Amino acid sequence: MSVPIPAEDPRQIPNRAVVDRSAITDNVRALKTKLDEQTALMAVVKADGYSHGMLATARAALEGGATWLGVAHPAGALALSHAGLDVPILTWMYEPRTAEALLPELVAAGIDVSVGSMEMLRMVIDASRSVDRRARVHLKIDTGMGRNGVLPAQARPVVQATREDDHVQLVAAWTHLTDADTPADPATDQQVEVFDATVAALTEEFGPIPLQHLANSAALLSRPDLHRDLVRPGIAMYGYPPVATDLELRPAMTVTSRLALVKEVPAGHTVGYSRLHTTAATTRLGLVPMGYADGLHRAASTKVSVLVRTADGDHVVPQIGRISMDQIVLDLGPESTAKAGDEVILFGDVPQGPTADDWAEAAGTIPYEILTSINARVPREVRG
Ligand SMILES: Cc1ncc(COP(=O)(O)O)c(C=O)c1O
Repeated sequence: MSVPIPAEDPRQIPNRAVVDRSAITDNVRALKTKLDEQTALMAVVKADGYSHGMLATARAALEGGATWLGVAHPAGALALSHAGLDVPILTWMYEPRTAEALLPELVAAGIDVSVGSMEMLRMVIDASRSVDRRARVHLKIDTGMGRNGVLPAQARPVVQATREDDHVQLVAAWTHLTDADTPADPATDQQVEVFDATVAALTEEFGPIPLQHLANSAALLSRPDLHRDLVRPGIAMYGYPPVATDLELRPAMTVTSRLALVKEVPAGHTVGYSRLHTTAATTRLGLVPMGYADGLHRAASTKVSVLVRTADGDHVVPQIGRISMDQIVLDLGPESTAKAGDEVILFGDVPQGPTADDWAEAAGTIPYEILTSINARVPREVRG
């Protein structure tokens, strides 16, 4: 088994992704105010908690009232279970080799597994036999996402097989919505129609399926009729609601660095690869030791602003020139009093400061990708 070798000592790096645990707890509490008593909340903590740190995020979400945890990878589910987080955990993304290696342990640990094909069900049954424990299965129905999930017309034999084998217990039917972040899009209603018809037919033939779940953050916030037994928010919990909401959610991650150098340059000075920027007048440039190798999106070059915290206050200044691998350049302005060592906030929870939404707009992507791009090279600091 290979283990990651730490390349750089985080204590010697000026960059930080500061994760505010209390923001996650408060955001979950706020999301719960939208739910009826009988609807549970599964905190989606896949992708290392959208890069916020899976365990810290999971604990913070449970404090806020989440009672389920969801992760794509079985390895994540096992890590949550090993950490003693004693709530139902669902995992949904595995292939035969992972299944062979991990499914027995998952089933033995009582972790719920998603099944989206007969092959996956067979793998789960084999695993549950090997550990002599009944597996809890969620049937994933592909209602239009075209990813993992059984097609409605092929769900019947899978459910029949769960009914015929004591090693598995069908606990839920679920699906994932393609366009819930565009509430006016009829795709959501089309998917729900397919889901409901499939579940109704299965229920009629094989008896009730205890749980149904389909709502992500967007559906949680905009479609109370889709809450059902369980909702699965991710992005809203991290402070980025994908649809309009009256809830006050705050970003849980603030990415910071420090100015490495401040220097005055004359008009006509070029900045960065391809000389993307030329100064119009004498100005002061600030160099920030963070770049696309840390997860800043190069596509956002020259289109974002960041916040510099100087002795005379906070200033939002533009990033100029091409974003490099390890550095970006700011136009501090000719009068700036900023000094090397001053704090720079790339995005996060700072009044007037840039957010992951701003970076997403600049880079032509979504805040999910901005957050999850902040990689292991940026040391995490958990607060709150
Ligand atoms: C299956 C599943 N459920 C729920 C979520 C959470 O979605 P969101 O972050 O939009 O709330 C995701 C994330 O993409 C997912 O893959």
